Amino acid sequence: MTAPLIVGNWKMNGLAADLGEAQAIAAGIIGARARIGLCPAATLISRMAEAVSAAGVAVGGQDCHAEVKGAFTGDVSAEMLQDAGASLVIVGHSERRAGHGETDADVAAKALAAVRAGLEPIICVGETLDQRQAGQALEIVTGQVRGSVPLALADAGFAVAYEPVWAIGTGLTPSLAEIEEVHAAIRAALRQIGGRAVAAPILYGGSVKPDNAREILHAAEVGGALVGGASLKAVDFLKIIAAAG
Ligand code: 13P
Repeated sequence: MTAPLIVGNWKMNGLAADLGEAQAIAAGIIGARARIGLCPAATLISRMAEAVSAAGVAVGGQDCHAEVKGAFTGDVSAEMLQDAGASLVIVGHSERRAGHGETDADVAAKALAAVRAGLEPIICVGETLDQRQAGQALEIVTGQVRGSVPLALADAGFAVAYEPVWAIGTGLTPSLAEIEEVHAAIRAALRQIGGRAVAAPILYGGSVKPDNAREILHAAEVGGALVGGASLKAVDFLKIIAAAG
């Protein structure tokens, strides 16, 4: 079986003083069954990569621009992330879809850019509470997969992260049956792409904590986790990593 992928998304948190947490994570993963990644703010990528790469922790960005370079003030390209020491990048996080108006087409272009630069994109999808309550979760999520995962990624390494918007930072999580139902639908959508995509890991994200990680990580079609708040403290993140074993 492929090792699960467990990635911490530090969002807009973390200063140089917090690199010690990343070092503690790197020191604590010896013998872990999972593949581990940390996605700090762009300002910390190169220093974090220096601190944790030797221990086998992958470092990633939280977003990238679709172009290689140019007049895009404030943006960072996938090539720049790679140059700074990243090997992963999160694209299409709901906080970017909602807060920065990113569409499926934007996300697909970013995913392609990531692969062009040699990064492994983690392509995020997920329904809002209104959409779930209206019985539209599967339709929304599979539509996002079809729109955000380009067919050209069929033979690239990438992951999909199912992050229900209402579960992010709320302490709420879907039931295991709901997680498994959505992951199965994502798997079916990936099968249509073909190639290596049929086996791409499908991560779950949204209020993953030390006390719920074990059951979530062992649910059907859950190939890992994308962890926000609980990845900021080594003690919590290491418990989540241990739960994968
Ligand atoms: P929380 O784990 O804080 O709910 O965040 C999830 C998330 O958005 C990871 O990308």
